[in-house]
Amino acid sequence: MGIAAIIAEDWHAALAALAWQVEAGADEIILDAPVNRYELAAEAPKPLSAKASSPAALPAASGGADPVAVAKEVAEQAQTLGALQAALTDFDHCDLKKGARNTVFSDGNPQARVLILGEAPGAEEDREGRPFVGRAGQLLDRMFAAIGLSRSSADADSALYITNVMPWRPPGNRDPEPAEIAMMLPFVERHIALVDPKVIVVVGNTPLFALTGAKGILRARGTWTQALGKPLLPMAHPAYLLRNPSAKREAWADLLSLRTRLR
Ligand code: URA
Repeated sequence: MGIAAIIAEDWHAALAALAWQVEAGADEIILDAPVNRYELAAEAPKPLSAKASSPAALPAASGGADPVAVAKEVAEQAQTLGALQAALTDFDHCDLKKGARNTVFSDGNPQARVLILGEAPGAEEDREGRPFVGRAGQLLDRMFAAIGLSRSSADADSALYITNVMPWRPPGNRDPEPAEIAMMLPFVERHIALVDPKVIVVVGNTPLFALTGAKGILRARGTWTQALGKPLLPMAHPAYLLRNPSAKREAWADLLSLRTRLR
């Protein structure tokens, strides 16, 4: 193996290990040696970039139209889900669209009381054009079926509506970047306003961050909060539950909390 391949492999392994720790709730880096922070310069360091604490605080793309402003304008004009889907399909400012086969808009019953917001399509969703149809999606269906909710239900009380923050598959299933999330946020907000669910369930870090600006789904899960004027329940992503079956116990507690809320 050449030196470049070894470096690349180490880099990917290190990044995967870091992502795992963040997903598990790590939010601070501890150095090998203690740091006396009283001796550090009084001046606070400037932020490295506009990777801000909330997606809405991100800057416009340089040059040309501001994608966030364009997204806001076209999303707000949409008066129906069909019009919103068309506006999203026509939106050309997000590079992820170029590598995707389909714009994955939604699935389920728009009359549902529960709207599930996921992260982004994977390979199977990209192929089929529907959210959550792969292994994680099958687990999601089984989880919600256990409390009597289904995307195929015609009855609003037992129905689910499912969509994602990002409608295009990111390469290699990487997480959408904050600037990409910021571009999609006007569509997500309009989507939720048009469906007008009773409660929102966010599964995973990306939708939690998009709607609340918070990070760390494993810390946030199970604690009801509010977003867009609606009760919001954060839950672990089913892909995480597939990798960490012991976390299913907490997911079950979250489902029971949702069931109680809907009574
Ligand atoms: N994961 C998601 O968050 N959404 C999908 O549609 C599929 C997998």
